[in-house]
Amino acid sequence: MAELVNLTIDGVPVSVPKGMLIVDAAKKIGNDIPVFCYHPKLKPVGMCRMCLVEVGTPKIDPATKQPVRDEQGNVLIAFMPKLTTACTTPVTEGMVVRTATEQVRAAREDILEFLLTSHPLDCPICDKGGECPLQNLTLAFGPGVSRFDYNDKAHNEKHVPLGDLIYLDRERCIQCARCIRFQDEIADDHVLQFHDRGRGMEIITFSDPPFDSYFGGNTTDICPVGALTTADFRFKARPWELSSTPSVCTHCAVGCNIALNTRLETRTGGYEIKRVMPRQNEQVNEIWICDKGRYVHHFTRAEDRLRRPMIRREGRLVESTWEQALQVIADRIGLAGGSVAAVIGDRIPNEDAYVIAKLVRELGGEVGISPAVPAYYADVARAFGVGAECDFGRLGKGDVLMVINGDVEEQAPVWFLRLRQAVVDRGATLVLAHSRSTKMHRYAHAIYRYDPGYAAKWLAANGQALIERHLAGARNVLFVFGDEQLDGPGARALAQLLANLLIQAGHVGKPESGLLPLYPHANTQGVFDMTQVAREAAMGNGKRNGSELFQYDVVWLAGVGDEADVPRARFTVVQELFLTDLAKRADVLLPALSFAEREGTFTSADRRVQRFYRALPPLDEAKPDWWIALELAKRLGYAWRYAGPQAIFAEVAQRVPAYAGLSYERISQVAPQWPPLGREDLYYGGTVYDNTGGLGARYASDAERDPAGVRPYEVTVPEPTIAGLARILRPLYREGELIRRSAVLAAHLVPVGQPA
Ligand code: SF4
Ligand code: SF4
Ligand code: FES
Repeated sequence: MAELVNLTIDGVPVSVPKGMLIVDAAKKIGNDIPVFCYHPKLKPVGMCRMCLVEVGTPKIDPATKQPVRDEQGNVLIAFMPKLTTACTTPVTEGMVVRTATEQVRAAREDILEFLLTSHPLDCPICDKGGECPLQNLTLAFGPGVSRFDYNDKAHNEKHVPLGDLIYLDRERCIQCARCIRFQDEIADDHVLQFHDRGRGMEIITFSDPPFDSYFGGNTTDICPVGALTTADFRFKARPWELSSTPSVCTHCAVGCNIALNTRLETRTGGYEIKRVMPRQNEQVNEIWICDKGRYVHHFTRAEDRLRRPMIRREGRLVESTWEQALQVIADRIGLAGGSVAAVIGDRIPNEDAYVIAKLVRELGGEVGISPAVPAYYADVARAFGVGAECDFGRLGKGDVLMVINGDVEEQAPVWFLRLRQAVVDRGATLVLAHSRSTKMHRYAHAIYRYDPGYAAKWLAANGQALIERHLAGARNVLFVFGDEQLDGPGARALAQLLANLLIQAGHVGKPESGLLPLYPHANTQGVFDMTQVAREAAMGNGKRNGSELFQYDVVWLAGVGDEADVPRARFTVVQELFLTDLAKRADVLLPALSFAEREGTFTSADRRVQRFYRALPPLDEAKPDWWIALELAKRLGYAWRYAGPQAIFAEVAQRVPAYAGLSYERISQVAPQWPPLGREDLYYGGTVYDNTGGLGARYASDAERDPAGVRPYEVTVPEPTIAGLARILRPLYREGELIRRSAVLAAHLVPVGQPA
């Protein structure tokens, strides 16, 4: 329990942890001291002076070292002769703060007048208009009139590209350095800097390529003016025209909480996502998202989305009705005698994966997940994953974080931010083992290398030494691991060896200890949990049709995207967003809804089950995957009735042991978060959205649910295989069906098969 300090702010007593800054202490009691340069996630710098307040401390008798009291026994307060910045001054015992005096009011007015001397009159055309801290604070505290001649204001060339994703309007900048500090302190991409002095001072980028960072979009959220805008959103809409829907990013396994900002477009007559914004969840992404999550949304309204079912006739896919398409599939499945397989992509929500798997099992068929390799170790990750109460924000001194065979920045960018802070800011020890360098290597206290494909072999040979050198005596041990250049058995061996190390070093069942897999997408764990694809039941052991050419009579591919590793069949059903290479081979092609057009849940790699909501109306005749499965079930004689995803999830909670006790109500719950962001006082935290959609809930690992059942694995470590070695890193901007539809990211795409 942190030591508490007592003070009064505008006469209101408050007790806060020692070391807290006045500005945050005031926030605790709802007193919003205006700020520009201060941001609760960045170190204070005291540059703008907007937060000036009167500060007094108890007079101390030099002889007794006790507070001096008046005749009534009240402690005498000595006020500082000048105003003090609330954002740089920590609270002290007995402090008295005044935020609403005439002196403070005058100071705020002066600071705003000063800032506005070089500020343009851009509000009507500025992207920040309507959610601009400078605009809002000027209205609240600024001078009613300007003494400054408009012609004396700075008139710079507008819209200077800082990179291809972020533009700068130089005269709007109030030189708060939030953007520079974010890039330096949080992203560790030192790409921005101030240049020149006085009125000539401006933000420049000095990286090559310019403003080179996966996290640059966050600077536009925390810039307190419209100086920084994204190439994606600038001039696209005004904030007050936008509706906001809570959602979850699907593009890696972190599960960042986002808000989809949508607007009705007169151009198309339909709703579109205009921008993707972070939504505060201190347990997941705090208030940050990566640029992929921010800019990749254009696929949702791409012109070439599939809109109607299609059936192959005389070699060509031709449009059909849903009734025709579903009947054709049902007839083929009816004739298949159980030689049916479904492969479910790992971006398919839990509810959909559950009903597809349920139906295929009822039919006597098999279920696989795509990509296939994570299915080899998802049961290990679930058994020995981080604890249900794990808080990455608590990792620090005494804890050992080991990253093995994974690239955290490329595969789980926001975890990179969080884990880096645990090491750099809070003193956790970082051990790295990989066959190549990653950005995380910068912070490593120990680095081990092995040949590509030899991660499991290396660990098998060096596990004992790792315990002796690093893990023994650690407060917590967190293993972050990837499956780069490993095939399924190799990846499983790596996960099992890590689990055995946890057991051996005594770190099973602690909240901040365990495994953290770097899965490819938002719902890899969830699809595994819903389908329960055990390694032993890998596809191919069931009712194959005995043909050399075809493995199954019917294969049903749900959202497998551009993953090419799927079984061959006489008859292939594909449900997709786009006409992918696989979809071109379909006998029946069904248009699916994207995550933005429906609701459901995803389970992140750390087993947090989170809810996303419908932000856009359904696209033409496209349907959710669960609906397609239920319609097929009906035609095949199963009278299943679910009112929707919520009802399906209720059954999941009954049938999938790990999900017992979870419900839409539970995962939709919100609780006050600290710092309180996403509220009216945009100047404090930026334009991050408040979390109204739910904080989600992490289910317990198997080791937590059944500690008595914890046993080490018998591990067989296989030799590296060609197939494994071919599985090189998936860089964040790896070219794929979804990302290629975002023109703003075109210059960043990494062709498939090429490492970053
Ligand atoms: Fe601050 Fe924005 Fe200027 Fe950066 S660009 S220094 S965040 S006002
Ligand atoms: Fe999406 Fe992952 Fe980026 Fe978060 S870190 S915004 S989940 S791609
Ligand atoms: Fe305190 Fe800028 S000096 S907010």
